[in-house]
Amino acid sequence: MGTQRGALVVFEGLDRSGKSTQCQRLVDVLRANGEEVHHMRFPNRSSPIGQMINSYLSGQAQQDDHAIHLLFSANRWESVRELEERINAGATVIVDRYYYSGCVYSAAKHIPSMDLEWCRSPDVGLPRPDVCIFLDISAEEQAKRGGFGEERYEKRELQDRVRECYHEMRKHPDEHADMVIVDAGRGMEEVEQEIAEVVRRVRKNVEGGESRLRTV
Ligand code: TMP
Ligand code: MG
Repeated sequence: MGTQRGALVVFEGLDRSGKSTQCQRLVDVLRANGEEVHHMRFPNRSSPIGQMINSYLSGQAQQDDHAIHLLFSANRWESVRELEERINAGATVIVDRYYYSGCVYSAAKHIPSMDLEWCRSPDVGLPRPDVCIFLDISAEEQAKRGGFGEERYEKRELQDRVRECYHEMRKHPDEHADMVIVDAGRGMEEVEQEIAEVVRRVRKNVEGGESRLRTV
């Protein structure tokens, strides 16, 4: 018998939703329990493609909207081998943003030639997560949490459209099955507990089920 594969757990949400904090907490808790965990985030700004993305987000460089979209996708593809190797070696892989972000931030620009379907297509074939935990936060709560940073997409109007696109994307049959909405407008501990419960359930399913990763 081969090694039992690990679970692929993705976190998604708007900026200021507490996504990175919750990701880190989950990683810490699982590691404290002696679990093998691998933590990734996209964009991965350390690769040459990631550096191009970083220059774009910080406003140092301009890109055509289609081109930057494809760079975000390429930035995931260049990590696929590592991701699969970790999963197949039995690690739980926790990912902070994935192709959902790729789709919704681009589609939220409302460029006619870039609808959700077009935006999703370069990511088709990527490993499909066992669960996508969507940390949902209202515009009001997001505003209460203080100002956005300086990056390109951290603007009220775009964020509102991104939130709509996340909910739109959830209508796709595959995404609907994979996405679990967690109300992130509550206290950190409460959110953390709900996430822990979701992850416990998903890991149990993976242990008892089909051992191959599916694809997007
Ligand atoms: P970060 O704040 O999580 O580092 O992400 C940087 C920004 O990049 C954030 O506003 C979301 C956006 N983004 C995309 O537009 N497309 C993508 O594929 C990803 C992963 C992020
Ligand atoms: Mg950000």
